[in-house]
Amino acid sequence: MAVQEEETTAADQPVLDVRDLKMHFPLRAGLLKRVANFVYAVDGVSFKIMPGETLGLVGESGCGKSTVGRVLLKLYEPTAGEVRFHGRNIFAVDEAELNRIRQRIQIIFQDPFASLNPRMRVKELVGEAYRVHTGDKDWEKNVEQVLKKVGLQPEHMQRYPHEFSGGQRQRIGIARALAMSPQLIIADEAVSALDVSIQAQVINLLDSLKEEFGFSFLFISHDLSVVEHIADRVAVMYLGKIVEMASDRNLYQTPLHPYTDALIAAVPRAEAGRRARRKTILRGDVPSPVNPPSGCRFHTRCPKAMDHCRVEEPTMIEARPDHWVACHLHGPMPHD
Ligand SMILES: Nc1ncnc2c1ncn2[C@@H]1O[C@H](COP(=O)(O)OP(=O)(O)OP(=O)(O)O)[C@@H](O)[C@H]1O
Ligand SMILES: [Mg+2]
Repeated sequence: MAVQEEETTAADQPVLDVRDLKMHFPLRAGLLKRVANFVYAVDGVSFKIMPGETLGLVGESGCGKSTVGRVLLKLYEPTAGEVRFHGRNIFAVDEAELNRIRQRIQIIFQDPFASLNPRMRVKELVGEAYRVHTGDKDWEKNVEQVLKKVGLQPEHMQRYPHEFSGGQRQRIGIARALAMSPQLIIADEAVSALDVSIQAQVINLLDSLKEEFGFSFLFISHDLSVVEHIADRVAVMYLGKIVEMASDRNLYQTPLHPYTDALIAAVPRAEAGRRARRKTILRGDVPSPVNPPSGCRFHTRCPKAMDHCRVEEPTMIEARPDHWVACHLHGPMPHD
């Protein structure tokens, strides 16, 4: 391997470094199917994930979370930006290298078997990619081991996914990811379809696996209460952009962006009083990402919107140590 191609794997270097990522889906119209407009699904997103760190990515439906997860793996052709995995730009590597990287970044979806052959047994579902990738003759042993790690039994190998409950199926999905010894796992609404008690079990499992194996985590969810339990840092997305990013604690205790405040206020809480001072109610729906509002994209729903919020887009600033926000309430004064 040439020197300039060497990966950075030091503990103080990010596993994932996303810089100004954009994904604009073309909308075609008319007889000639010309590009008439774009869906600005992801519109300038930057973040880093450090070794062993869990970053939560939250926001309402349609704000671009899943698109971030997919374009990271170049499952879509990105519009702009860079994604560096251990220092190497995923968008610039050749096909063989991209495939190698894709083994080390695993995605767990809401329904991990929706796109898979229902006639495959757990053994193949969990072991196939590992077997093909490594050529390991003893691949069944690997399957057995990862199934044990997620709390399933060796005899489950011979069964089919439909024989399992939702929570068990998600465990199989986790085993499948784990079999590849990933360095980064992207969980996209991985527990969203499960009952609350099962959600907690699966989250605890993911948390302990993370401790044991040391992988990094991008945990995507529209549900803030789910992310709160597992994330070290949280990024809040609104209409294709990150509007706030901070440690889990700072974000939930002192949210700076009115959008984050509203999302937190919407989470039902057992502890009375904790959110008593927050009264922000999120009005209306997320506007269309085809024609996002001018200035601050949140201004149409923001209870604190000022005149210049309609015209000037706020930039991301470090308002407090390691607490980033893009909001005119916390930025340098506008020049108008
Ligand atoms: N392949 C695609 N082609 C065109 N538009 C797309 C495509 N995929 C997603 N979009 C649009 O991009 C925007 C962001 O979608 P995305 O699925 O990333 O949101 P999300 O935050 O994951 O939402 P949810 O919480 O519902 O999963 C939406 O307006 C969606 O309709
Ligand atoms: Mg999604």
